[in-house]
Amino acid sequence: MTIDQSERDAKRNLWLHFTRMSAYQESDVPVIVRGEGPYVYDQRGKKYLDGLSGLFVSQVGHGRTSIAEAGARQASELAYFPLWSYAHPKAIELAARLAELAPGDLNRVFFTTSGSEAVESAWKLAKQYFKLIGEPGRYKVLSREIAYHGTSMGALAITGLADIKHPFEPLPAGGVRVPNTNFYRAPLFGDDVVAFGKWAADEIERAILREGPESVAAVFLEPLQNSGGCFPPPPGYFERVRSICDRYGVLLVSDEVICAFGRLGYYFGSERYGYQPDIITFAKGVTSGYAPLGGMMVSDRLMEPFEAGTATFLHGVTFAGHPVSAAVALANLDIFEKEDLLGNVRRNEGAFRATLEKLNDLPIVGDIRGDGYFYGIEMVKDKATRETFDDDESERLLRGFLSHALYDAGLICRADDRGDPVIQLSPPLICGQEHFDFIEQTLRTVLTEAWQRI
Ligand SMILES: Cc1ncc(COP(=O)(O)O)c(C=O)c1O
Repeated sequence: MTIDQSERDAKRNLWLHFTRMSAYQESDVPVIVRGEGPYVYDQRGKKYLDGLSGLFVSQVGHGRTSIAEAGARQASELAYFPLWSYAHPKAIELAARLAELAPGDLNRVFFTTSGSEAVESAWKLAKQYFKLIGEPGRYKVLSREIAYHGTSMGALAITGLADIKHPFEPLPAGGVRVPNTNFYRAPLFGDDVVAFGKWAADEIERAILREGPESVAAVFLEPLQNSGGCFPPPPGYFERVRSICDRYGVLLVSDEVICAFGRLGYYFGSERYGYQPDIITFAKGVTSGYAPLGGMMVSDRLMEPFEAGTATFLHGVTFAGHPVSAAVALANLDIFEKEDLLGNVRRNEGAFRATLEKLNDLPIVGDIRGDGYFYGIEMVKDKATRETFDDDESERLLRGFLSHALYDAGLICRADDRGDPVIQLSPPLICGQEHFDFIEQTLRTVLTEAWQRI
């Protein structure tokens, strides 16, 4: 296929996700054809630093033949068999390996094919679990404002982004919002992040009491909230949330679709922040994207009612725990171990932060926040007052300029205004100082030009 034909067919036949298709009437659809390490290449051969790991996915980087070969071997041996009543060796091996890595007694792995399905499964499990143990009124889920938890109807009901929910309402009942941990936008607390964290956790308790504890099944939280631009948890926040959940018999679900598998320098984000979830949902980095896979890891306590009599979790997905994906995940985890990728993130995260913080001298940079290899840079109109851009300005800045300019400059990252306007970075875990420098220099050039255009 020629380049022209592929660009024409991309416009004519392919429907891009969360994309204004009209934006491509005048310009070409970017077509990425190849990847190597932390870089990808478009069909004209131009090189880009994959500063978002695709979509928070490509932890080990691109072009890993050991993973590709593991997938191919598995496809020749047993391409497919369901996990409905049967098991297959790679799903067994992966479940055991994940249980070994997971914190505490999260010993049971229920596979899915995606993060949305993982979130959906966790909510369904929470509901059925409470029915089985004689608390049938518990069905509600608390989650944070602006948090993204997926797009299927249940996951969307948990998601805290009003704009992407409206077209699909009414959604399943039971989604309840609580505040997120955006300390930059919490002026009442001054520089007392601990008091802010206590307040934010206590808002969860207030919501449980308001809704009625007997109706609340679970709280869904990311270790570090992605949407809105990387909100880390304040010190003490999760410890307090855990004790609130215990007080009212509510499950704590750690949605680690982004934060697991090294993004924060640990296999699981909950490990980094020192809390014990009842369920962890995961996807993305478990395979570094070499094949699709997601799932949830569940505590022994939640499994217990399903281990006796006729009880059955009435839920399943045809391709969940696909043998090829499971084989790929195992090969991916082998690379984590062999190359000490968690160590790489822990050794370099300070340098990543310090390099990004050089951008603080730019007038448009309001806040730089995150942990590990996961950062958000919030852009503001006025650094002193923290005034943000209005909708028109944000539209011109992000869609009209930044997204294209960063891509043209060879940096793939995300310019997002689902909350206040931010640029997000989540490079592959193999990155080091040369990549941080490229990110900083590219952002410096592009953000300087953006400021001049405002
Ligand atoms: C925290 C979180 N949960 C769930 C999802 C949904 O995952 P998927 O797109 O694989 O369905 C995402 C996707 O980015 C996510 O970030």
